[in-house]
Amino acid sequence: MIKQPFVSDQSQNMNLQLIFLILMVVYASSADSSCPGINNGEFEDLMNVMKKITCQSGGTFKKPAFLATLTPREVTLTSSSVVKFDSILTNIGNGYDANSGVFTAPRKGTYIFAVSFVAGNRNEWLELTLAKNNNRLVRGHAAYAPFTTGSLEAILELEKGDRISIIQPRPSGHILGENYSMFSGHLI
Ligand SMILES: *[C@@H]1O[C@H](CO)[C@@H](O)[C@H](O)[C@H]1NC(C)=O
Repeated sequence: MIKQPFVSDQSQNMNLQLIFLILMVVYASSADSSCPGINNGEFEDLMNVMKKITCQSGGTFKKPAFLATLTPREVTLTSSSVVKFDSILTNIGNGYDANSGVFTAPRKGTYIFAVSFVAGNRNEWLELTLAKNNNRLVRGHAAYAPFTTGSLEAILELEKGDRISIIQPRPSGHILGENYSMFSGHLI
């Protein structure tokens, strides 16, 4: 069985795999009977290593990235409720789950997140907070008037499996949907 020294280093998956593949093709095609060529079993092992890396990176060589918007006219948020941005426009790596509103990092790395939102048609203010594994890190604020706007942004180093969600921390709040409010993020 061939060792897999680089499986854990997923940030360089793509380059490694490409180099690896090119080397294997060149090597396999140049081997003649006087050289110790690669046999079928070894080649299969190498292919399995590559498949494993592909799977662990979320089934794609592309960097994880997502964008989801809120589509209802207005959503009522209670204390600590997670905003469930329901309409997924981009979800490379499938890290974002519209049912829970939670983004789970498909792999370790530095991510950037952004939320832009509009408060509902009421005389009240709206706060949204970005939380990492339920720790509240960054706050966005929309002023006390109908249809005011707020935003927040964060660059965070995440481990695979870290969870990012957008929480309404006050007793209640109202957020405008109709694609005016959105949550996005990607690996940088
Ligand atoms: C919001 O976006 C969805 C697609 O994601 C679209 O079907 C819908 O018509 C949009 N709504 C508005 C009000 O723009």
